[in-house]
Amino acid sequence: MPHLLSLTDLSVHTIEELLTRAQAFQDRGAEQRVREPIFVANLFFEPSTRTRFSFEVAEKRLGLNALNFDDTTSSTQKGETLYDTLRVLEELGAKAAVIRHSEQGFYEPLQDRLHLSLINAGDGSGHHPSQTLLDLLTIQQEFSGFKGLTVAMIGDLRHSRVARSNAEILTKLGASVILSGPPEWHAPEFPGTYVSIEEAIETADVVNLLRIQTERHDGEGLFTKETYHQAYGLTLEREKRMKAHAIIMHPAPFNRGVEIASELVECRRSRIFKQMHNGVHIRMAILEWALGLNIIPQHFQLSI
Ligand code: CP
Repeated sequence: MPHLLSLTDLSVHTIEELLTRAQAFQDRGAEQRVREPIFVANLFFEPSTRTRFSFEVAEKRLGLNALNFDDTTSSTQKGETLYDTLRVLEELGAKAAVIRHSEQGFYEPLQDRLHLSLINAGDGSGHHPSQTLLDLLTIQQEFSGFKGLTVAMIGDLRHSRVARSNAEILTKLGASVILSGPPEWHAPEFPGTYVSIEEAIETADVVNLLRIQTERHDGEGLFTKETYHQAYGLTLEREKRMKAHAIIMHPAPFNRGVEIASELVECRRSRIFKQMHNGVHIRMAILEWALGLNIIPQHFQLSI
């Protein structure tokens, strides 16, 4: 069974197929075709609202059985390792494991030793492939493609797994990626060109804001909420200088009045809640692919 660890591992063809399937699930729903019980384990060792619940909703909509692992009441508290935990779940019948973990690359020692599909739901500052796929779906719905678009990634680049995944794949798909944020949080290894915040706001078709990852910072913060907002946030004044058709994205959770003015969270340009909505359909497509299923869209269901 394939793993989904980062989008770097996937061909453009597979990415496009996943987007197509996600769009089909959104347009037509899914007939629950799974006849045998198929178990999928959800293991979140870091907090999550969107990823965790949208995977669970996706599993339920496909007719899969979700096993929701709770770190605080599991035998990891007695020292059981992640590998041994996954071996247990595999032995109990789980065919896939959706995992969020604070350790970057947590999956590396696991991927060749397990017979279930590993789905990376975010690894430290590493990758967040399902978030990137839902971001791609959101951009595709808006602009019908990626070539020629300018996407600005703005904020805490260095600690953001979303920025890393998005910058890599958007470049591969033909978009121009521009980057802006405090120099202390630059990530020189990301593809893209660094520009001022003003140039990023004024030239982007997609303004993709990033959360400040305080949980991954050492020591004192560089900014107060207000000083960050004025220096790098999407203020009411900056929003007026965006291109007429430009949209606002943010993986969320967002900090109101920090990365984005509170009034802009649900403004006409914002696709932030649309991204969350798309997350369910993308995760349905990921699960279908990872489990080797072929869920027939509801539209094609024959009545009996
Ligand atoms: N965007 C995202 O990963 O949100 P959660 O941390 O709530 O899952």
